[in-house]
Amino acid sequence: MDQGNYSRVAEFVLLGLSSSWELQYFFVLFNFLYITIVLGNLLIVLTVISEPALHTPMYIMLSNLSVLDVFLATYATPKMIHDFLHESKTISFEGCMAQIFLLHVFAGGEMVLLVAMAYDRYVAICKPLHYTTIMNLCKCTGLVVGSWVTGIMHSLSQLAFTINLPFCGPNIVDSYYCDLTLVIKLACTDTYVPEVLMLLDSGLMGVTSFLLLLISYMVILITVQHHSSVGLAKAHSILTAHITVVTLFFGPCIVIYAWPFSNFPVDKVLSVFSTVFTPILNPIIYTLRNKEVKSAIRKLKIQYVSSKLLSQLSLTR
Ligand SMILES: *[C@@H]1O[C@H](CO)[C@@H](O)[C@H](O)[C@H]1NC(C)=O
Repeated sequence: MDQGNYSRVAEFVLLGLSSSWELQYFFVLFNFLYITIVLGNLLIVLTVISEPALHTPMYIMLSNLSVLDVFLATYATPKMIHDFLHESKTISFEGCMAQIFLLHVFAGGEMVLLVAMAYDRYVAICKPLHYTTIMNLCKCTGLVVGSWVTGIMHSLSQLAFTINLPFCGPNIVDSYYCDLTLVIKLACTDTYVPEVLMLLDSGLMGVTSFLLLLISYMVILITVQHHSSVGLAKAHSILTAHITVVTLFFGPCIVIYAWPFSNFPVDKVLSVFSTVFTPILNPIIYTLRNKEVKSAIRKLKIQYVSSKLLSQLSLTR
């Protein structure tokens, strides 16, 4: 293939979620979901920052997960909401590459952070006496930075062989964002090798994190069963929360990437799952079922109300 002798497409056309569905209902629904994601996750970040009792590795990583969730929901959903209302649903070539880059940074970062959170719980439950020496705030910062760096490296490696492919003609992407598995097929060259590379890259990332998560949960479960003195109920509720999030996050990824060569319509629904429903579930699962976070939120509310009352009192005087 003569790489120098073609004109690259300037933009891609996104077909959106579906052309036949009742768009105005979806517009309202996705607006609502998006606002809920942003507000819910910001509430977690605010709560953790403002409550000194929550300045522990577990909650610091949780609030970092919330930040990632907001980003994960933001790289594509506002554009999709915007596209509901507009006839031309195009995205520039650069915008498309940016979406691919961001998706893989945030998704990769989230995978590694979920592993770090599982490791934190493993130390807390299986080595409770050494917890403070093994998991200090410094180590926690290392894990958080490490998850960002891994996400960025993974994403750069994906983009490295995508961005130089010759995109010369077909530019229709049957989704509401630039999904790498779909975009790569549009290159006017034999895409077999790039597709296999992409699969190996994402697969390595996903499968490694997934296995590490499974192993840490299994070790925790086995430990908990042998020492009934370690708060069995507490460990179970933490594990249930983790396993639910992990299943909902990895399930769609596995299905999308396990059959990347055929484009099932179900893929779109699964993409919505990982970009909209996972970011909403994290605050619900990790926070609303957690006593410490609930009481911190209550404290925050009381502080807010009393400061309001005080300022009103001083105004009326
Ligand atoms: C994310 O983690 C870093 C490093 O541990 C921490 O300093 C920061 O406060 C966290 N961010 C949020 C929003 O909690």
